[in-house]
Amino acid sequence: SQSTVRVINHLDRDYLRQALEQDVTNGLTSTPKSLPPKWFYDAAGSELFSRITRLPEYYPTRRELTILRARAAELAAAGGADTLVELGSGTSEKTVLLLDALAAAGTLRGYTPVDVDAVTLEAAARRVAGRYPGLDVQAVCADFERHLALLPRNGRRMVAFLGGTIGNLEPVARSAFLKELRATMRRGDTFLLGADLVKDTGRLIAAYDDAAGVTAEFNRNVLRVINRELEADFDPEAFTHVAVYDGQHDWIEMRLRANRSMWVRVEGLGLTVSFEAGEEMRTEISSKFRPEGLRAELEAAGFQVRRRYTDPAGDFTLVLAEA
Ligand code: AVJ
Repeated sequence: SQSTVRVINHLDRDYLRQALEQDVTNGLTSTPKSLPPKWFYDAAGSELFSRITRLPEYYPTRRELTILRARAAELAAAGGADTLVELGSGTSEKTVLLLDALAAAGTLRGYTPVDVDAVTLEAAARRVAGRYPGLDVQAVCADFERHLALLPRNGRRMVAFLGGTIGNLEPVARSAFLKELRATMRRGDTFLLGADLVKDTGRLIAAYDDAAGVTAEFNRNVLRVINRELEADFDPEAFTHVAVYDGQHDWIEMRLRANRSMWVRVEGLGLTVSFEAGEEMRTEISSKFRPEGLRAELEAAGFQVRRRYTDPAGDFTLVLAEA
């Protein structure tokens, strides 16, 4: 039988414009300046991130895949889900392992990828639909920090949040996110969370500052997004990619450092901002976790941890929790 694909868009042009305007206004007028990482992911940014996942230094994707390959069947059986909801689904490369396992368990009925980039989302939704006859695909273009309550709730759901993307949220936002997600889940629904673990600082920094410079291009892409969407005149080449580890907070910080003093005009905001030479603007945090800390955070949000796995190298963890 044919699969069906529906795309629901909570990020229409007006909404996106408004949210970007607000984030960029706040970020560029704060001291120090900062920009939220969600704006990396236009079509070009999603493609650059895909390239990052294949870099020798960037271990998280491979480690998570190792765990998923070994445990997908167990996870599918433990969750008993008929619908996989995937937050920040991107190109849905890892999803296939979970969908195959749910299909093999005989429960699979639906897939709901959720992503901020409409182009990547729709392509992934169609690709997945083509692979599983009869699958009900409801793709949702949304911001998982703002639209959790609007996601479809039909079926027995496994909500997957993979790749370590939870690390992009600061602790306060993270606990709010977990509580809100918990509130949208029903008895029997499960939450599958992938998180990167604290490890040797040198390896962490290398993962976010690769030799080929792909992460640097990814980082600068946020300036290109702002140039296009808000008619700004950032010169991306005038900024250097910086990755530092903050051992106090256990997170990697990506920054863009101004190579010289400059003015930047953001026409769409009627805003002109100045950068001093050497000034650093934060563009992402990527938190690294300790297994016990992660468990405590999940329990504080009302989840019960059912299964915990790490890869043999101890680099990455997958946690299955129940609402
Ligand atoms: C997609 C958020 C999981 O934090 O490792 C990769 C993004 N940034 N290299 C991460 C990212 C720089 C990535 N996440």
